[in-house]
Amino acid sequence: MANLPQSISTSGATSFGASSATAKDRSRIASVEHLVLQLNNPDLRENALHELSKKRELFQDLAPLLWNSFGTMSALLQEIVSIFPVISPPNLTPAQSTRVCNALALFQCVASHLDTRMQFLHAHIPLYLYPFLNTTSKSRPFEYLRLTSLGVIGALVKVDDTKVISFLLSTEIIPLCLRSMEMGSELSKTVATFIVQKILLDEIGLKYICTTAERFYAVAQVLGNMVETLVEQPSSRLLKHIIRCYLRLSDNQSACKALRTCLPDMLRDATFSNCLREDPTARMWLQQLLHNIGDNRVPALQGGGGFDRMMGS
Ligand code: TRP
Repeated sequence: MANLPQSISTSGATSFGASSATAKDRSRIASVEHLVLQLNNPDLRENALHELSKKRELFQDLAPLLWNSFGTMSALLQEIVSIFPVISPPNLTPAQSTRVCNALALFQCVASHLDTRMQFLHAHIPLYLYPFLNTTSKSRPFEYLRLTSLGVIGALVKVDDTKVISFLLSTEIIPLCLRSMEMGSELSKTVATFIVQKILLDEIGLKYICTTAERFYAVAQVLGNMVETLVEQPSSRLLKHIIRCYLRLSDNQSACKALRTCLPDMLRDATFSNCLREDPTARMWLQQLLHNIGDNRVPALQGGGGFDRMMGS
């Protein structure tokens, strides 16, 4: 294991958190290290990707191992870029999609780990996933790719680090999330909305989205469209994230005012009472939202500042 850093190959035995690793642990670690090395061999890579993505939960320190071992990250990036030619026009096969999603699962592992997250960002690796978020095909291979890519970004925003949010905003992640919220399956919509929610909950994120009327309305429009799709295909999970996004938007004065007129009626009447019955938190958020925007619809005042003035109305 000459090309594994000392700190990893020798301390690997404690990776399971136990002070005295059993022989079984040690052999499991050796097999993970072996698979990581196999990523460098194009002939063995596909199988190694498959095995490692299955094992990634079992081995806590897989992320630093992937990041610090020679050639591994570039091998994973090669996997990603190798399918760019079949993204547009869309010609992705199920096998290609599965293989890249296994590589993405390993990226997610690196994105989740405290010791590798910032390096992963500083290397601008999320940008390589953006072409997958910009696709419009609803076929399974593309949907799987979209969902797995969103999973990587979701892992980054999960930890509430304002540096992560600022980085993502600077890469224009919002329009890409909006696209998945429009194009994706229920699951992709949910993860994309979760990402937008996490961005909004950050002070800088809320300011960013509410800084122009165009940005606010772009987000509000997509949230509104999703509310409509929920009538046909209810999902209390997705509804909850949507409500949380609206509630957070209502913390911004201009956005709050605009919501008085653009919050869907379906959130004000009993349309979703079934969905909300079992979720007291979502119910409370919705109540708070309706309270923030004022119980009855108040027509926006002319010239009172906020988006009306920005839009020149
Ligand atoms: N460059 C665009 C902007 O800064 C990015 C963008 C498009 C955007 N749609 C958005 C940002 C919606 C926030 C919300 O406005």
